[in-house]
Amino acid sequence: CERPDGRPERQRLLVVANRLPVSAVRRGEDSWSLDISAGGLVTALLGVKEFEARWIGWAGVNVPDEIGQKALTKALAEKRCIPVFLDEEIVHQYYNGYCNNILWPLFHYLGLPQEDRLATTRSFQSQFAAYKKANQMFADVVNTHYEEGDVVWCHDYHLMYLPECLKKYNTKMKVGWFLHTPFPSSEIHRTLPSRSELLRSVLAADLVGFHTYDYARHFVSACTRILGLEGTPEGVEDQGRLTRVAAVMLGVDRLDMIKGIPQKILAFEKFLEENSTWHEKVVLLQIAVPTRTDVPEYQKLTSQVHEIVGRINGRFGTLTAVPIHHLDRSLDFPKLCALYAVTDVALVTSLRDGMNLVSYEFVACQDAKKGVLILSEFAGAAQSLGAGAILVNPWNITEVAASIGQALNMHPEEREKRHRHNFHHVTTHTAQEWAETFVSELNDTVVEAQLRTSK
Ligand code: ADP
Ligand code: G6P
Repeated sequence: CERPDGRPERQRLLVVANRLPVSAVRRGEDSWSLDISAGGLVTALLGVKEFEARWIGWAGVNVPDEIGQKALTKALAEKRCIPVFLDEEIVHQYYNGYCNNILWPLFHYLGLPQEDRLATTRSFQSQFAAYKKANQMFADVVNTHYEEGDVVWCHDYHLMYLPECLKKYNTKMKVGWFLHTPFPSSEIHRTLPSRSELLRSVLAADLVGFHTYDYARHFVSACTRILGLEGTPEGVEDQGRLTRVAAVMLGVDRLDMIKGIPQKILAFEKFLEENSTWHEKVVLLQIAVPTRTDVPEYQKLTSQVHEIVGRINGRFGTLTAVPIHHLDRSLDFPKLCALYAVTDVALVTSLRDGMNLVSYEFVACQDAKKGVLILSEFAGAAQSLGAGAILVNPWNITEVAASIGQALNMHPEEREKRHRHNFHHVTTHTAQEWAETFVSELNDTVVEAQLRTSK
């Protein structure tokens, strides 16, 4: 069954991401339970329903034995997921190392690791080698499951080397790549020792997508300044081959260094210091799901947050009330939505954030209450929700403290006006629309490439 443009009616979409939408926990030699994974990428992609989609990715667990691998593959098949099995050493070097200790902080403007810089430089090569090896393993699985006519959509900073590996297998494969984090200024990207190799590999894709126009612009400048390629209004051109670059807009924290959790709590402390009339009347509920717990930087962050929360509760708590409720855990989605709905003010203070779906979820759940969103100007969402939210610089604790006062005291009419703006945006820019736009642009790029060859 074909559409007038020659594409099949139900085109298969292979979604390739490091993290599958479910993470596996072993219950016995051949039995597994599957829990929904946390994070913006999974949330965004779970909102995409109208495709014949298969997911390819890592189930978040080491499965060294064949019995376990077979049983898990079967359990995942029921969820339309296909596993990529990564052993402990690869996970350590590729996921904990290159992805989350190097690329993630760098892309969020936190630089390359500061401590033990020499040791990091020495291990850099082996981590990058593991990164490439892991990407090749993803490519092998994609290649095994690929059928002619499928669209392959690769996701995020874990898989920047994948487009090139896939095109080596099959130049006709339609390959798109989407980044869920910021793409930093080219001045930051150029500090990365493997800067050129990664850019070149991403450029092997037919369409490269970013959350905001600024990230797309940074990527194009990195290609022109670092690779000496020509940037055009449509993307990047290399020896007559055009890679389209697009900004496709989409619209509670993981305990991550980029989320500005210590800064948020310190701003709340300042607010309490300056506003004694609010004592015992306002509570900060911080739900911080632990994440990437094997990476030392994340372990340090957990202790730091616990220490600050303890100090502030000791300082401002009474026998009947504590100002901060901090939970180190994930909540299931209905409970999270119930919390969003009863909250007066949401505080999203990311130091950098690709988009930030928590701010979207809060707005979507607030149609009755019309609560106020305080939003970091460094989150991609600030570009779409900026007119309705109170925008803050999360590094400026005094400003964030003042914004808490402004939000709590805001007149209902102004709250309503701000909320209406944000609600309209969130309900018209859905995950489904984002995916449809990306896949349709990806299909068009292939048509263009074929036209160029036939000229
Ligand atoms: P990131 O992509 O960095 O994880 P986002 O704000 O874009 O940040 O997305 C986070 C997603 O994970 C949201 O859908 C949010 O509901 C979910 N999430 C974050 N923290 C928790 C938590 N403590 N419990 C349950 N879900 C969470
Ligand atoms: C961010 C990244 C995703 C990642 C998520 C959770 O949203 O962009 O790729 O899946 O964080 O992190 P984790 O390391 O647990 O997959």
